Amino acid sequence: MPTYIMAIETSCDETSVAIIENGTVIRSNIVSSQIETHQQFGGVVPEIASRKHVEMITWIIEEALKVAQLELSDLSAIAVTQGPGLVGALLVGIIAAKSLSLALDIPLIGVHHIAGHIYANQLVHTLEYPLISLVVSGGHTEIVYMEAPGQFKIIGKTRDDAAGEAYDKVARALGLPYPGGPFLDRLAQEAEESIPLPRAWLESDSYDFSFSGLKSAVLSVINQAKMKGLTLNSGHVARGFQESVVEVVVEKALRAVKAYGAKQLILAGGVAANRGLRERLTASCEKLEIPLLIPPLNLCTDNAAMIGAAAFLKWEKQQFASLDLKADPSLSL
Ligand code: KG4
Ligand code: ZN
Repeated sequence: MPTYIMAIETSCDETSVAIIENGTVIRSNIVSSQIETHQQFGGVVPEIASRKHVEMITWIIEEALKVAQLELSDLSAIAVTQGPGLVGALLVGIIAAKSLSLALDIPLIGVHHIAGHIYANQLVHTLEYPLISLVVSGGHTEIVYMEAPGQFKIIGKTRDDAAGEAYDKVARALGLPYPGGPFLDRLAQEAEESIPLPRAWLESDSYDFSFSGLKSAVLSVINQAKMKGLTLNSGHVARGFQESVVEVVVEKALRAVKAYGAKQLILAGGVAANRGLRERLTASCEKLEIPLLIPPLNLCTDNAAMIGAAAFLKWEKQQFASLDLKADPSLSL
C-alpha cells in the first residue's frame, strides 16, 4: 500500500493542497493564488490573506483528492506548513490539517516552509549529501549546508531584505505590478544595456547577503533622473539590478560549495524562477563541473507539493506532531 501524504500550505498568499505518493510522486498539487486580490494594495494584506484561505481551503482539499483520484480514507498522514509565514494565514492551514488528522485518526506532520522549498528538488531530482542549498524567496535568502537529509545548517543569510523582497521593492519603484520579481526579470532580459550598480560583497569570508544598499542605490538613480527631468530606461535599471543580485548570490553559493566539499548545489525558493539567476548559475556550475539541481518553475514558488516532499522524511522517521502544534511565524530551520 503506497504512502499518501496530503500536504497543506497557507503561509502567505497561496492556498495550496497536494497529495504526494511515496515522497516523490505528485498525485495532485492545487495552487490557488490570491495575487490579484493583493495587487490593488501593492503587497500582501495579512487579514485579507487569512480570509481568502478560509474561503478556499475546503474546496482546494476536495479538488486535490479529485485530481489524485483518491478518497480521504486512502491518506496516510496530513502535513502542514507550521511556519515561518503570516500567523493568521498559517492558522487556517493548521486548523484544517488538525481537523483531518483527528477525524481520520492519521498522523499530523509539521513542516518548515523553507525545508519545503529545498525539498521541492526531491520531487524531480535525487539529492546527494553533503549539499549546499541556495534559498532565495520573498521572505528568505540563505545559504544552507546539509550534511544529511533533514539536517540544516544556515551558513549565510540576509542581514536586511530578502532577495525577492528587494526585487518587489525595486519593481514597485519602477512602476511594475505586485509581485514585481517576474516583471523585473522580463525587463532585465529584454534590456540591451545595464546601468552600473554596487555589489554588496560584505566581509571577504562572509556568506551573508545585504540588498538594502542596492535597493537604495536604485531609488537614488530613479530620484536623480526625476529631479533632472530625465527619462530613465527602466530596462537598463532592471538589468543593472539583476546583474548585481545574481553576481553576488552565485559567487557566494559557489564559494560555499567549494569550502564545504558539497556534492551538489540545489536552488530553492520563488526567486529560483528568475531566468537571469538560472542562466548564470547553470553556466558557472557547468564551467566548474558542479552538479546543479533546479526545480521546475511551478515548484519554485509556493506550493504544497514541496511541503509533502519534506514531510515524507519526517514520516519515515515517525516525527509526528501532536494536536497542539502551533503556528510559528518565525520558526527556525
Ligand atoms: O518562495 P515564494 O513563492 O514565497 C516566499 O516564500 O516568500 O517567493 C516569492 C518571491 C516574490 O518576491 C517574487 O517576486 C519572487 O519570489 N519571484 C521572482 C521571480 N518569480 C518570483 N523574483 C525574480 N524573478 C522571478 N522570475
Ligand atoms: Zn515560499
